[in-house]
Amino acid sequence: MKIIFLGAPGAGKGTQADIIADRLGIPTISTGAIIREALKNGTEMGLKAKKFIEAGELVPDDVVIGIIKERLAKSDCQNGFILDGFPRTVPQAEALDSMGVALDKVVSIEVPDEKIVERMSGRRVCAKCGASYHIAFNPSKDGKTCDKCSEELTVRKDDAPEVVLSRLEVYHSTTEPLKDYYSLKGILKLVDGVGSVDEISCRTLSALEV
Ligand code: AP5
Ligand code: MG
Repeated sequence: MKIIFLGAPGAGKGTQADIIADRLGIPTISTGAIIREALKNGTEMGLKAKKFIEAGELVPDDVVIGIIKERLAKSDCQNGFILDGFPRTVPQAEALDSMGVALDKVVSIEVPDEKIVERMSGRRVCAKCGASYHIAFNPSKDGKTCDKCSEELTVRKDDAPEVVLSRLEVYHSTTEPLKDYYSLKGILKLVDGVGSVDEISCRTLSALEV
């Protein structure tokens, strides 16, 4: 299956993408995670993206489209994938169409802005594998290290409250219109993203009809 997860920053795209991808045996491709890894490694692309990501703005379309083209060409994408955080603009969605990607479903995880702020303030992430936890709603087993790779959990730089507000603004002005884009293609599914992680996984699986 070729699936897109849409949703505001902090809506739970990464959390659900990991669970559903495991279940379906397909990879998750997160442009945010790829960019953070490039930043950590100080690559040319990472340096180009730094000022945008830290300000909560979108990285230019040509940079992320290049990332996705390269990633989708890898052999593990042959049986499908979940795109988490791509596309985020209409030109990105058009670029995906022109790559000939036949999407099965686009799932938009719907969470009101007030809840987003609460989720972001308690988020902790694994700097190694990118897994997302929450100090109250979705803690790791010991509350300090990642369940998967035992790495220390950290706070994402762009989770600072003022950056979260700017990311939310960008989401509503630039990314949310993609719901209309995919609704017109008849493949959009809205999933209520308020509830426990397990509840949202059940709703997502049923929206995907798997
Ligand atoms: P990206 O990394 O994609 O960030 P985002 O879209 O802002 O989304 P987040 O990763 O913050 O949230 P999420 O929806 O994955 O939620 P999570 O599961 O972690 O992008 C970062 C930046 O990279 C962008 O700002 C931009 O600069 C750049 N970028 C990336 N892609 C780009 C593109 N295509 N074009 C241009 N620029 C791009 O959950 C959040 C928290 O809530 C966690 O603590 C989690 O444990 C908790 N939680 C999850 N589910 C629940 C639940 N059901 N109940 C309670 N808490 C929950
Ligand atoms: Mg994420």
